[in-house]
Amino acid sequence: MLTSAATSPTETVDARSVIPVDIVERYHRARPTSAATFARARASMPGAETRAVTYYWPFPTVIDRGEGAELVDVDGLRYIDVVNNYTSLVHGNAQPEVAAALGPVLRRGTVFPALHDSQIALAEALVARIPAVELLRFTNSGSEASALALRIARRATGRRSITIAEGGYHGAVPPFTSGEPEITRTPYNDISALQSTITDDTAAVFMEPFLGAGGVIPGDPVFLHAVQRRAREVGAIFVLDEIQSLRNAPRGMADSLGLQPDLITLAKLIGGGLPIGAVGGRADLLELTSPLVPGRLDHAGTLNGNVAACVAGRAALRRLDAAAIDWLNTAAEGLALGIEAAGEAAGLPVTVTRAGSILNVHPGSAPVRAPRDAGRAAGCRAALHLGLLVEGIYTTPRGMINLSTALTPRQLDRVRDGYTTVLERLVNAPALLAEATGDAA
Ligand SMILES: Cc1ncc(COP(=O)(O)O)c(C=O)c1O
Repeated sequence: MLTSAATSPTETVDARSVIPVDIVERYHRARPTSAATFARARASMPGAETRAVTYYWPFPTVIDRGEGAELVDVDGLRYIDVVNNYTSLVHGNAQPEVAAALGPVLRRGTVFPALHDSQIALAEALVARIPAVELLRFTNSGSEASALALRIARRATGRRSITIAEGGYHGAVPPFTSGEPEITRTPYNDISALQSTITDDTAAVFMEPFLGAGGVIPGDPVFLHAVQRRAREVGAIFVLDEIQSLRNAPRGMADSLGLQPDLITLAKLIGGGLPIGAVGGRADLLELTSPLVPGRLDHAGTLNGNVAACVAGRAALRRLDAAAIDWLNTAAEGLALGIEAAGEAAGLPVTVTRAGSILNVHPGSAPVRAPRDAGRAAGCRAALHLGLLVEGIYTTPRGMINLSTALTPRQLDRVRDGYTTVLERLVNAPALLAEATGDAA
């Protein structure tokens, strides 16, 4: 039985009505401590949330700890982790080398109001690794990196407008949040629109090499080059957002795609699981922020380039060599095929989109080419997510999953088998099947 303590006035009514009752009851029955913790948290945080994406109906599983490729919740249930904090834990949870590097930091100081060696070491590693990054500055998040990149672009061009992709995500700060007047949205992978969406007024064009939050929709290299060309043509700054994509190629995706962005934004994995962001790119643009340049663009931040994040990030980056990236991408390819085959065998088709080791499982067999396709079959998505949690597989509500180097082939097989089990269960729910196949219920 569902208890009223766990329900919220703003919960997703759709999810409640379409997720098979046996899944909801099994989810609820095994998680009394999560339910009680969620109820407690609502007294201090709105909807028990401090970060969009962590709430889902009927109440989120509350995590106690992470151990490599597994998460353990407050009820003692274990999960194979294929979220890895939305790509920031490329080596899984509490990776021993990262943890070992952090040990001395906790004794010697986590942050100083000064230049320090670990900051320089991470900056040097990133400059050496990413060809388009000649200089860089650190921030505390990807959102802050986007904000700084925009300020640099505005200073360099004297213009204010920005163009980003429909379904593109660059962070949770204005003007990157929805509905801001300075933003023009251009359809992703549509070259014909660029003439009118990138103009003489455009200060910067921000683009992901694949739409991450938009459904893991790969960018057509021809489109990405056309964006770069059009930005150059009108004198706008071309910013490639590599906040998720850096993991997909040894020198990042700007390099693997042959792009020469003016600026690159970074975050997530470069902090080894601690808060970080960075803007790198052309030296002349970054020099606009130098204290040695009169009238420079000021950029402050109490925790910018703190010791802890730089040390953890350096350790994580060192482990992410070409062999590790190759393993991740190959494993992801195998998992994508396995999940699609599971859907076919179960009679509830799914489509898996993929960019390197980042994937998104979409209910239905119709191609997923645009963010609106990634929003289809919301009930089926919610049921799949909750069903997988019941099976001990930790994924995201929207269906995005990504791999870590901590995963073993056996754990990857268990993830695929989890999909098989849940899809076989969902195929018996006519409303979900109809939603996934696009047939009227
Ligand atoms: C492509 C992309 N850009 C920017 C961001 C914002 O980064 P952060 O959450 O560190 O602010 C994200 C976060 O998901 C992202 O995926």
